[in-house]
This record gives sequence, C-alpha cells and structure tokens, in this order.
Amino acid sequence: MRPIAILGSTGSIGLSTLDVVRREPRRYRIIALAAGANLARLAAQVAEFRPRFVSVARPEDESRLRALLGGIRVAIASGPEGAEEAAARPDAELVVSAITGIAGLRPTMAAVRAGKTVALANKESMVTAGPFLRRAAARSGAAILPVDSEHSGVFQCLSGRDHALVRRVILTASGGPFLRTPLERLKTRTRSQALCHPRWRMGRKVTVDSATLMNKGLELIEARWLFDIEPARLDVLIHPQSVVHALVEMRDGSVLAQMGPTDMRIPIQYALTYPDRRPSAPAPLDLASVGKLEFLPVEEKRFPLLGVARAALDAGGTAPVALNAANEIAVEAFLAGRIGFCGIAGVVTDVMSRHRRTEPSGLAAVFAADREARAEAARIIAKRTLHD
Ligand SMILES: NC(=O)c1ccc[n+]([C@@H]2O[C@H](COP(=O)([O-])OP(=O)(O)OC[C@H]3O[C@@H](n4cnc5c(N)ncnc54)[C@H](OP(=O)(O)O)[C@@H]3O)[C@@H](O)[C@H]2O)c1
Repeated sequence: MRPIAILGSTGSIGLSTLDVVRREPRRYRIIALAAGANLARLAAQVAEFRPRFVSVARPEDESRLRALLGGIRVAIASGPEGAEEAAARPDAELVVSAITGIAGLRPTMAAVRAGKTVALANKESMVTAGPFLRRAAARSGAAILPVDSEHSGVFQCLSGRDHALVRRVILTASGGPFLRTPLERLKTRTRSQALCHPRWRMGRKVTVDSATLMNKGLELIEARWLFDIEPARLDVLIHPQSVVHALVEMRDGSVLAQMGPTDMRIPIQYALTYPDRRPSAPAPLDLASVGKLEFLPVEEKRFPLLGVARAALDAGGTAPVALNAANEIAVEAFLAGRIGFCGIAGVVTDVMSRHRRTEPSGLAAVFAADREARAEAARIIAKRTLHD
C-alpha cells in the first residue's frame, strides 16, 4: 500500500485524488490530510479514510473539527506549520500538493526537502520558487511529478527523450468561457460567467485564471522549471476541445501529442502510479464523437495577461513572484465584486509595470517580494472603480 498525504484534500484536486484512492483501496493508504476551512468535508474524509494526522488553516478550527469527529482518533494541527507537518510526515511516501495559491509553497517545499515523491498540482509554488524547489529536490532526492493535465502531457511526451532533441513545447488552452465573446463585452462579464468553464470543473481561482488565460501564463513558468526548458522553447496554442493537452515538437519536425478526456483523475492517477498505468474511472476518449480538433493562435487583445506572464517568465527573479501575487489579489477582488473582469488584467499590468525585479536569495526573499506586490495590488484596487 502506498502511503499518501494530500494537501488541499477538500478542494477540486483533493476530491479527485480521493476518488482515485477510493477505486483501489488496497493500493493506497491515506496518512495525512491538510485542508483550509471546509471542516464538514474534511470530517467526512477523516471518517472515510482514517488518516493519522489532519491539519486545518486556522487554529480555532481545531476544536470545531474535533467536535465534528466525535470519537475518531486522529492528531489535529493547524496553520502553515500544520500543512508543513502533513507534507513532511515520515510515514508518507507520496505527497499530493493541491493547496491553492502561494499558501502551497511552504508545504510543497517541506515535502521536497523531506525527499518525498511530490505530485504537484499547486503551480504557484513552481512559479514563485521554481529554482529553489529544483535545487532542494536535487539535494533530497525528491521526485516532482506533474498533476496539471498539460504538464502531465509534456512529461509523457518527453519521457525517455533527450531534451536537446526538442525544438518546442506547446501547452494548449481551451480559451475559457470568453473565447468568442465580442471584445467590447469583456468588461461587463460577471463572476458567474467567468466561473462557468466550458471544459473543466475546477476551484474558483484556477477557473478565473482560465478565463483570463493567466492560468496558461502560470503554466508556462511552471513548465520552465518543471522540465528545465528555456522560455524561448515554450509556446501556447488555443485548442477549444481540450483533447490534446500538450504537444512536443522535436528537432526534426515530428510533433508528439498527448491526448485524453478532460478528467483530472487521469493525470492525478498517473502521478500516483508512475511509471505504472492502472485502469481508471473516466470514460475513454471517443475521438469520433469529438469530430474535429481546432488549434488557434492566442489573441493578444483578448488575453493580455498571457503577454504579461511571458514578460515575467523572461525577466525571471522576483518578476513571477510579483505576477502571481498581483494576480491572486486581483482575482480575489474580482470574486468579491470589487473590480470588473478586465480589472484583473489592469491591476496585474499596473503592479508589473512598477515592480523592480531582483534576484531572490531564498524563500524569505520570495515571500518579501510576494508581500510587496500584494500591498501594491491592494493600493491599486482601492483606487479603481468597478468598471475601470
Ligand atoms: N482543479 C483543477 O482541475 C486543477 C488543474 C490543474 C492544476 N490545479 C491547481 O491545483 C491547485 C488546487 O486547485 P483546486 O482547483 O483543487 O482548488 P480549490 O478547489 O480551490 O481547492 C483548494 C484547496 O486548498 C485548501 N486551502 C486553501 N487555502 C489553504 C490554506 N491556507 N491552508 C491549507 N489549505 C488551504 C482548500 O481548503 P478549504 O476548501 O477547506 O478551505 C482546498 O482544499 C491550484 O494551484 C490549481 O492551480 C487545479
């Protein structure tokens, strides 16, 4: 039985991971779960999977969770330290990192330092601290396996191949709910429209990021560090059907594609069973019923944040940290109804134009740059009106 810890167990990736585990209960043992504030869902998971350790975001929720659990015996901790403890437990061998945002960085780093196999969904940790995670993994012997469907696709296409033979890595993007919305109407798109993704059911933050295409920008930066591929060899194509998740173009012009149904349980399970492949729950891909596959270039006017993200990727240093922080604050403000949809790109662009890039010497410098960009984003938001 493979002992597993899941960080972000109550979220979309966490639930899909537990579904994979539920299908083959003899293969996996859940050792630890870390979640945020959804105590009812966490309590149900504890009752079903009987981990030894759980962590919640706030200290005051420890006793509330204990009350919900009745007599079930489990150690309970809280805060960033609790999530880090779940990530580094000696009795877990594989850690699924699926807390959303930079809150996932410290626990991911704890798992990497402890030499775990890390199934990485939390792209924000690679975006903000990719070089540090790579170095820590090289020291501890940790393996970092992608969960993001596009990166799982790249990983599968690259498997066993010399990177020197690769000309280009292309990530596909569905284009989200506003791919065909007239440009002049983008400003008035609402929260519920942005949260209505045509292909994937995901958490709120990543769903909004998919509507702005910031998600693909973050994924480019994630790919840069996950696969050690220079920015110039990374590209994005719009592919509304989301059947092809990634393309790898070889030096001789041959292009490898990874395809699959739009169900995160497939890449999650692959990370859990790698290098093995097990039968899985989703219905097989039926290409005849999909009919046609389209590929389109990215319209810059529609998706300005992809260009901003690419500039941050090229600049490196603290630029991706500021990009991610500004975006987290802007998406939060959009979801809270404080800025409009186009305000997200406006805020992130403003923060990036003021950001003075430095080379972070370690995680403390990463968090300092993160705090500074958050404060700048909050100042900019305070001055905006809803439809700026
Ligand atoms: N969903 C997808 O299909 C998908 C695909 C590729 C990559 N990803 C990436 O995977 C990550 C998770 O995405 P998601 O869609 O699963 O997000 P989600 O549904 O919003 O779930 C986020 C999880 O993180 C927990 N959490 C949030 N803040 C926390 C904190 N401070 N401490 C501890 N736990 C905290 C939440 O707990 P509570 O709910 O209990 O508050 C929840 O369990 C993101 O980085 C996303 O970009 C997601």
